[in-house]
Amino acid sequence: MKGAATGSVGLFDEVDLPTFLARYFEREALFGRSSLTVELSIDEVMELLPVAMANGGVRAIHPGVGAEGLAKADLLDRFGGHADAAGFRALFAEGQFSFAIQGLELHVPALASACARLATLFGYRFDVTAFLSPPRTVATRPHYDRSEVFALQLHGQKRWDLFEPVDRLPAHRARQRTVDVDAAVPRATKHLTPGDLLYVPRGVIHRVVNEDAAPSLHLSFVGLVDSWASVFGNAMEAAYAALMDSPEWRAAVRCREMAGDIPEMRLRQMIASFSSHMLATISLGTAGYLDHCINDDAQVQRLAAARKSIDLLDGPGSGLVVRLSGAHFLERYGDAYTTNVSTDGDRFYPVASTLLEALRGGPRPLEELVSRTSCSDEEFLRSMTVLIRDTGAASLDMATMDSA
Ligand SMILES: [Fe+2]
Repeated sequence: MKGAATGSVGLFDEVDLPTFLARYFEREALFGRSSLTVELSIDEVMELLPVAMANGGVRAIHPGVGAEGLAKADLLDRFGGHADAAGFRALFAEGQFSFAIQGLELHVPALASACARLATLFGYRFDVTAFLSPPRTVATRPHYDRSEVFALQLHGQKRWDLFEPVDRLPAHRARQRTVDVDAAVPRATKHLTPGDLLYVPRGVIHRVVNEDAAPSLHLSFVGLVDSWASVFGNAMEAAYAALMDSPEWRAAVRCREMAGDIPEMRLRQMIASFSSHMLATISLGTAGYLDHCINDDAQVQRLAAARKSIDLLDGPGSGLVVRLSGAHFLERYGDAYTTNVSTDGDRFYPVASTLLEALRGGPRPLEELVSRTSCSDEEFLRSMTVLIRDTGAASLDMATMDSA
């Protein structure tokens, strides 16, 4: 699609932003007519599906229960290894699967503008997931999100059943709790038609169904919220990494000291030192302590750099330098060989641990990195793709080591 969509950003027709923030934000769902206007047809979204899938952003959802329907590899198998719009249309027309398209703002400039505007209004990052559902199918099973959701109905209709939260204000790093509402009566049910907007605070359980005989398309504007817990978690991780370089902090601790003999003054001094390192991290700016970067020029530049890096990786490969990009990322250990990496705290991708360790030592020529990383070529390429494309945690360029 060539940017046919147009849009402008407001929020609710009859509730202004100060009222929304005071009465509803993080508290109550809100349903109403929207002043957020987006023109985007089902056909245009169909055309975008192949490129969105190539970027890893399409989920096929089972029509009967609304759960994950097909893994990406299985979906590709359905298309004989090559996904095109005709294949998606056929799969959709047979009523077999809904499609959830993540990161639609990457492909539709008007949605990128809308996300940037929402980011300015709220102060955190927004992206867009489109839900395209065949007639009389379940769009999503009962679940809750750890992000703020503003669902805008574009075509057809959808029924949203809202249930009591099992976890109030869930944060990205918090564990996801089990949702079981089969026997529960919804606290509220809303029927969305084109132009309706539903705000669903993070944590509110919802089930979404297209009961109509026509296909349904809605956009979820997803607000990626940083919690105070994640800010402090990041600052603590940074302080810990810095203090691990200090001989004072590496000195041995005897068990009986921890049992009570350790002088309180020393403990207080060390806690003060730790606090000052955390404050220094936070004062460095957003990259140091936020899990999500905001929709601003820096993010656009980071995405452009990532695309350029992928192009370079596909090229001849000599004289290239790989470096960590400076974007904040989270690590969760997998096993002895892999570390799971994320920049949104939600989707974690496995990366070869030796590759990550080598990059922490500073920028490296690509050839040197290959020799330092003890994994197969296939694993190396997969890990590089994760670091560069999926997370933006690393970049690849033609710079010399002197300028690195
Ligand atoms: Fe959801």
